[in-house]
Amino acid sequence: MTVTSSNRDAIAHGKINVEPLREQPKFPSWALKLTMAVTGVLFGLFVIVHMLGNLKLFTGAEHFNAYATFLRTVGAPAVPTEGVLWIFRIVLLVAIVLHIYGAFALFGRAKQSRGKFRRQGMVSSWNTFTARSMIVTGIVLLAFIIFHLMDLTLGVGVAPAGFQHNETINGELVSSAYDNVVASFSRPGVVVWYVIAQLALLMHLSHGLWTATSDLGITGKRWRKVLLFLSGLLPLLVVVGNIVIPVSVLAGLVS
Ligand code: HEM
Repeated sequence: MTVTSSNRDAIAHGKINVEPLREQPKFPSWALKLTMAVTGVLFGLFVIVHMLGNLKLFTGAEHFNAYATFLRTVGAPAVPTEGVLWIFRIVLLVAIVLHIYGAFALFGRAKQSRGKFRRQGMVSSWNTFTARSMIVTGIVLLAFIIFHLMDLTLGVGVAPAGFQHNETINGELVSSAYDNVVASFSRPGVVVWYVIAQLALLMHLSHGLWTATSDLGITGKRWRKVLLFLSGLLPLLVVVGNIVIPVSVLAGLVS
């Protein structure tokens, strides 16, 4: 807090500082909050679409692999192979970098501004619990994304033995995404890790969308009601859809 007040008692009791606590930041906090809201909503949309696409696993190998190939050949021949996919990858990468930068910058500023004082009077609820865990669930999700890319996209390190990369046969791109998913989720430890990560996603996304509703300036009573309801419902649907996949493979329902 910057002092404009001449309240000597408050200053003496350390409630007000005579010096500004920190330099004027380059990016104002409202701009960081807005960036986090926009990039977070973008990720929310991505996980919804990704989950719906992944549910194609239940329609069989042929459909699922055709979908994986489609993601790479969409726009052909006008667009080179993986052209559209790379645009999405770059947008997501920029979004995640901005989101993480915003998170740590705001976390640091809040801590500095609070000084030695603790937050008080927070109501104990699901909302407080998820709010307090945002940094932890965010770190779990980042670890999950790195693991997941190695596991099912790059086929390195933690990927299942016998991971099959995409091949071009007779000029046609052939994907083995189905076999890779089944091989990966046949490992119980990996399924447990996926489920834990999905619980982190539920907490992170539900609180994130709830906060974004306010940060995007949505104040209308009816709109807020609808959006706050969706901020709980959509993450729940995404997470249930995502958990059903590895558990079904492990249970032998998909093979
Ligand atoms: C159990 C749930 C999930 C399953 C079964 C799954 C499945 C897959 C598969 C099969 C691929 C490779 C696609 C291909 O090679 O064509 C992939 C890629 C990817 N997944 Fe997931 N995914 C799940 C959850 C998630 C979640 C929660 C996130 C984000 C937090 C995520 C983010 C990504 C990303 C960023 C890629 C890379 C896409 C690319 O650039 O090729 N996935 N996923």
